[in-house]
Amino acid sequence: MPVRPMRDDEIDAVKAMMLALWADFDGDYGDEQVLVWERAGGDLGGFVSYEVRAWAEGCDSRPVPYIEGWWVAPDLRGAGVGRALIAAVEAWARAKGFVELGSDVDLGNESSLKAHVALGFEPRIAVQYFRKRLGGQRAESD
Ligand SMILES: CC(C)(COP(=O)(O)OP(=O)(O)OC[C@H]1O[C@@H](n2cnc3c(N)ncnc32)[C@H](O)[C@@H]1OP(=O)(O)O)[C@@H](O)C(=O)NCCC(=O)NCCS
Repeated sequence: MPVRPMRDDEIDAVKAMMLALWADFDGDYGDEQVLVWERAGGDLGGFVSYEVRAWAEGCDSRPVPYIEGWWVAPDLRGAGVGRALIAAVEAWARAKGFVELGSDVDLGNESSLKAHVALGFEPRIAVQYFRKRLGGQRAESD
């Protein structure tokens, strides 16, 4: 079965995939559950991570399972691996009685936007985050 839960000895390989997805990944994926795609040779070719959030923008039910990370190796893209990973999360969520699955995508990530729609996700709220630099330096973290 190519899609399965990550094994403990695969944490470094999974973190490498997370770093490929999130350039600012700090190595901590908290309480996220991780499913991986195993290539024929045993190496990992993709992952999906998810957790149950207390609530999520765009979803009506709460708590609600939420896709936190989704990445497929470039040489495997477009072949159904991403679909299989999401389907596995859906199966888990349905079995737990959840009726929605949440996710988010950067507005500039055209391929992921299209893939989400192809997989049955409905676009809900589009948001642009802003910041205004206030100058100075932060004295200490709290
Ligand atoms: C997004 C991603 C995980 C999809 O994985 P994938 O294995 O290529 O997806 P699949 O081949 O299973 O495709 C799933 C569906 O999305 C569609 N799709 C995937 N990539 C697409 C693209 N670039 N343009 C249009 N549709 C696309 C497929 O056509 C398919 O629909 P179909 O079965 O009706 O044809 C992969 O492209 C990826 O890792 N991208 C870089 C990381 C990223 O952006 N992750 C998501 C962050 S929100």
